[in-house]
Amino acid sequence: MTTTPMSTSPIRITDVAPRDGLQNEPAPIPTADKAALVNALARTGVDEVEVTSFVSAKWVPQLGDAADLCEMVAASKPTGAVYSALVPNERGLGALLAANASAEATAGSRVIDKASVFTAASETFSTKNTNASIAETIARFRPVITRAHDAGLATRGYVSCIVACPFEGPIAAGAVADVASQLLRLGVTEIDLGDTIGAATPESIAQVIMAVRPMCDAAGADLVLHLHDTFGRASECIGVALELGVRSFDASAAGIGGCPYASTPDRRAPGNIATLALLDAIEAAGYAHDVDRAALQDAGQLALDAIARAGAMP
Ligand code: HMG
Ligand code: MG
Repeated sequence: MTTTPMSTSPIRITDVAPRDGLQNEPAPIPTADKAALVNALARTGVDEVEVTSFVSAKWVPQLGDAADLCEMVAASKPTGAVYSALVPNERGLGALLAANASAEATAGSRVIDKASVFTAASETFSTKNTNASIAETIARFRPVITRAHDAGLATRGYVSCIVACPFEGPIAAGAVADVASQLLRLGVTEIDLGDTIGAATPESIAQVIMAVRPMCDAAGADLVLHLHDTFGRASECIGVALELGVRSFDASAAGIGGCPYASTPDRRAPGNIATLALLDAIEAAGYAHDVDRAALQDAGQLALDAIARAGAMP
């Protein structure tokens, strides 16, 4: 497909390195290093930083410090910055709201602006990732979304395995649309389509976007694309998504990342598209962005150094 943008509407970029980027790292990374990464990313010009997850530390030990991290970054959060965090259930949202209350008391304003719930278009992945069927996750999210909105937060609904599942293989675009429509009925303010294992091709990503975009438009919800870059096709898929009207993308500084529950015995889950590669794809399609490449490079190096130091610790 050729890329001929009809408008220069602003592109939204969320850097997910502190969450998706670090969640699969086996060696514990000090909370201060994560805080330095969040602070650095917030000053690169990206629109949003996905800071952490309020999930069970038994399931994702690396992110067991979510509350401490939020406390550490609250005071240094730049004015106008948008921070988000994942929540799998009501308990996670309760912890997020407690972090916000604490930040309001100490720093004068909340720290997390968006609560992100996550489910999948694959039953097997949903069960492995959250110990719940897709229907059970949707039921879990209902009170979470209501309470998040009551607290003035935006909400993101992730759908994983939008093209393929590491356990079930190919996933039909109709299955993705079905889950997205259930999330939209809960009232999420955006749908985030996750190509969890980087299986997307320009053709398959176009099918999914065309199946989901009309329902997002009808609901007044944003559509976000979250690509992992296993086979080096993510940039091409970004170009196709831009042609099809998608204006919001996730990426990870230095391309780190991957879901621990997408790994199989012979393959560790792949990283997100690198934020610098996303910038290249956006520019190649003729769009502008406000990200400072040098600052982003430095933030990515911070992440790589923190991972290397943690791995080197006895
Ligand atoms: P469960 O074992 O079914 O639930 O886990 P449970 O209620 O029995 O809880 C287990 C333990 O966790 C209990 O502790 C709970 O209290 C505790 P214990 O009593 O045994 O000491 N617990 C919690 N602790 C802290 N925060 C909470 C919380 N909830 C329960 N919110 C559960 C169910 C959903 C909790 C679990 O499966 C879980 O945490 N899963 C998270 C998995 C995850 O984070 N995966 C990565 C994110 S998704 C992703 O990466 C894909 C994405 O990037 C898009 C893409 O690429 O496709 C978003
Ligand atoms: Mg991911």
